[in-house]
Amino acid sequence: MNKEQKAFHKSRRDQFAKIIGKDSVAIIFGNTHRNKSYDGDYKFKQYKNFYYLTGFEEPNSALMIVPGGVKVIENKKENTVKEILFVQEKDPLMETWNGRRLGFENVKTELGIESAKVNKELGKFLNGKGLQRFSKLYINFGEVLKLTDEMKTIVTPFLNSLNVIAPHMELIDISYELGKMRLIKTEFEIRKIQEAADISVDAYYDAMKAIRPDFNEFNIQSILEFYYRFHGGDDIAYHPIVAAGENACIMHYDKNDQHMNKNELLLIDSASEYNYYCSDITRTFPISGKFTKEQRIIYDIVLKANKECIKKIKPGVKFTAIRDLSERILADGLFKAGLLKNKKDIKKYSLHGVGHHIGLDTHDAVPYSKTLDTDFDTLKAGNVLTIEPGLYFTQDMKEIPQKFRGIGVRIEDDILVTKNGCVNMTGDLIKEAFEIEEEMLFNREVD
Ligand code: GLY
Ligand code: MN
Ligand code: MN
Repeated sequence: MNKEQKAFHKSRRDQFAKIIGKDSVAIIFGNTHRNKSYDGDYKFKQYKNFYYLTGFEEPNSALMIVPGGVKVIENKKENTVKEILFVQEKDPLMETWNGRRLGFENVKTELGIESAKVNKELGKFLNGKGLQRFSKLYINFGEVLKLTDEMKTIVTPFLNSLNVIAPHMELIDISYELGKMRLIKTEFEIRKIQEAADISVDAYYDAMKAIRPDFNEFNIQSILEFYYRFHGGDDIAYHPIVAAGENACIMHYDKNDQHMNKNELLLIDSASEYNYYCSDITRTFPISGKFTKEQRIIYDIVLKANKECIKKIKPGVKFTAIRDLSERILADGLFKAGLLKNKKDIKKYSLHGVGHHIGLDTHDAVPYSKTLDTDFDTLKAGNVLTIEPGLYFTQDMKEIPQKFRGIGVRIEDDILVTKNGCVNMTGDLIKEAFEIEEEMLFNREVD
């Protein structure tokens, strides 16, 4: 790991230690293997909070943060340390089958974490008297309950006897405090998100060129994902939506296996992850290469909401005010087009909010409803948000003229809040209807 990355994760651990205070201990478990079927596992993916604090990508590991210090024996000497990483023991046979292990001996040099031990030492600490002197334990409860392998063996007796081992101790899930920290991105993180966004944007140009009637949704999905991986994206940021026609009106459409018809739109909500950081993009394309009159009316209303909301983003502005602005523009647009009698009914057709924070997670990292004790609504420099208005008309909406039914449009960009305004991190991806038509028709002529 390079110096800059080590310093980033160290700064996160130090900040978290300050937040939790000297009478607390934090134990944050990394992920373990997850079974897919019989003896096949899913590809290993580190827990994001654990990654945020360590950058360590091996399974079966845990980080302990002790702001008040804890005594450890290292090289036969007693030291007081504030952080210990517990890792898998080195094992030549297992490493031949499953990949190299860092080993506790190399943690300090490779990861810059103060101290390291093998996992069985964590078991002794947790199941002995180690916790008794602390008044609070911060732990990733939701994730701990899903652990497998050797970490499950360690945490099961611990969880079962917690009220005997340390009955006085307050137990706090780490996700809220860490989630709040994660809302303000550092320069290091912004560069990772930008890289993810750039890979995704480039892929959309390839996908756009390939859209044509009689292809299948999965043809387009495969082009995007080929491109992400080819250019170093290490994962998809989320399961993609590649939705032709009315499929776009299913918010979590995930089949991506339907035939694409000439007069339909294709809504693509897909993006790459890069070094654990996500981007999140949606564009909507006419499958024929040209919008119908009705598609264009809806498209332009959504585009207006997208652009006007982005223009308003700067520190101090409320995210809810941006949401309200988006709703107003969508409602006004539909009202003027004669598609909405009462503007209050806009939610029936716009369905979702205007956006969310992104970062290590696509929906990053604290549920909005849980952010009650601080003013999260007010945007701050270092926030990265999506702006993604949409309108959706199913065939069931008999109050809407037939030619508008089956239309679903969403346009989504990733926006960095800066000191004085904002930067559209996905701004290199065209979104004006005429630009899209030009790009798609030009490519069709070359065919
Ligand atoms: N792709 C998930 C979202 O737009 O929220
Ligand atoms: Mn989104
Ligand atoms: Mn999205």
